[in-house]
Amino acid sequence: MIAAARPNFMKVAPLFHALHGQPWCSLRLVHTGQHYDANMSDAFFRDLKLPSPHVHLGVGSGSHAAQTAGVMLAYEDACNEDRPDLVIVVGDVNSTLACALVGAKLRIPVAHLEAGLRSRDRDMPEEINRLVTDAVADILWTPSPDADENLAAEGVAPDKITRVGNIMIDSYELMRERIRASGQRQRLGLEERGYGVVTLHRPSNVDEPAALAVLARQLGDIAARLPLVFPVHPRTRKNLEAFGLWAELAQAPGMHIVEPLGYVDFMNLVCGARLTITDSGGVQEETTYLGIPCLTLRTTTERPITVTQGTNRLVTAAALERIVEDILAGRWTHGRKPDLWDGHTAGRVVADIRARFLAVPADAAGEAAMTVPDGRQAAGRA
Ligand code: UD1
Ligand code: UDP
Repeated sequence: MIAAARPNFMKVAPLFHALHGQPWCSLRLVHTGQHYDANMSDAFFRDLKLPSPHVHLGVGSGSHAAQTAGVMLAYEDACNEDRPDLVIVVGDVNSTLACALVGAKLRIPVAHLEAGLRSRDRDMPEEINRLVTDAVADILWTPSPDADENLAAEGVAPDKITRVGNIMIDSYELMRERIRASGQRQRLGLEERGYGVVTLHRPSNVDEPAALAVLARQLGDIAARLPLVFPVHPRTRKNLEAFGLWAELAQAPGMHIVEPLGYVDFMNLVCGARLTITDSGGVQEETTYLGIPCLTLRTTTERPITVTQGTNRLVTAAALERIVEDILAGRWTHGRKPDLWDGHTAGRVVADIRARFLAVPADAAGEAAMTVPDGRQAAGRA
């Protein structure tokens, strides 16, 4: 099972806990090292009760080609040393694509968790990663009907696809009690529903000086009206500093700039927020599940169900202040939780693996109790 970058860890953890201890499964957790700062990686292993990876490829940052190729070379060696029966990749980062390609070329079955999502925007590197990963994967575990439809339209055989639901929600449900008790909101002196949470890291928002300057100014203005907590991604921090925008943003009244947060503390803030302003994929989903307004600073989303059923809306920087005012005035549509976003996705994945590899009928394979290492049973039947 492959983990590489921040958004992977909350997708890997529930499945790791569900598979761990299954007598028919010998699990190997591989960390490619795409994210490596303590607060982008170790903190998540700690929070999500993941053990140290069995293999660490230590690849680190680089251009797309350098990073993808680095992961491929290192992961191919790892597979040749200890050949797995199944490679499980999650999400849409460069390491997802790299490991899927290695597995496919070595003729090891590849399963993709979070398959089928499409933004139809190839300016996003993740869209290329999704398309190629799904094209070479043997098993495609999807979160929502739109993903099934995308795969069908691309000619993927129906027997490769199993809709399992949204694995990120499993992590939230596993950690719900710890998230509630984290105290992060109180440590920042924030009132429940009296602040917003901001995350930004997409190249389209943070790599161009002009675009980032507009956003920084807007966020500064909004913070004066509604306090904002902004855990700054390393890519964004580097650029805010390089473009001379950091000092002004950090000093804006109402703005709380913090380091990237661990999962439990971050979700504690999201749970208590009035709204979120983001370009993250995961935050769009978490806010839909929690029913919290989400303003997504993008022109497309690969997660359209968060807009059609959830609380998400795609917005421009120019419209941000006005939309925040609308939300503060109570003008916002309520959403609902999409089907199978229920905390039981990992169990459904285990059932699917058993059905495919052990010929156990899927509806009889559902005894995959998920247990985090403190012994608490977190989710029940698949
Ligand atoms: C990556 C993913 C993106 C995902 C995001 C989640 C790809 C193409 N991009 O983007 O899909 O949404 O992770 O956060 O896979 N850096 C550090 N410390 C770290 C990691 C990164 O300082 O631990 C800095 C480095 O300067 C690096 C830059 O951030 O060059 C970008 O890191 P990278 O992993 O290439 O892309 P992200 O923007 O993090
Ligand atoms: N997250 C976190 N701390 C932070 C920011 C984000 O724990 O400071 C979590 C959050 O749960 C979010 C997940 O990281 O859903 C996704 O990460 P990110 O936005 O980096 O990647 P994306 O989902 O856009 O690929």
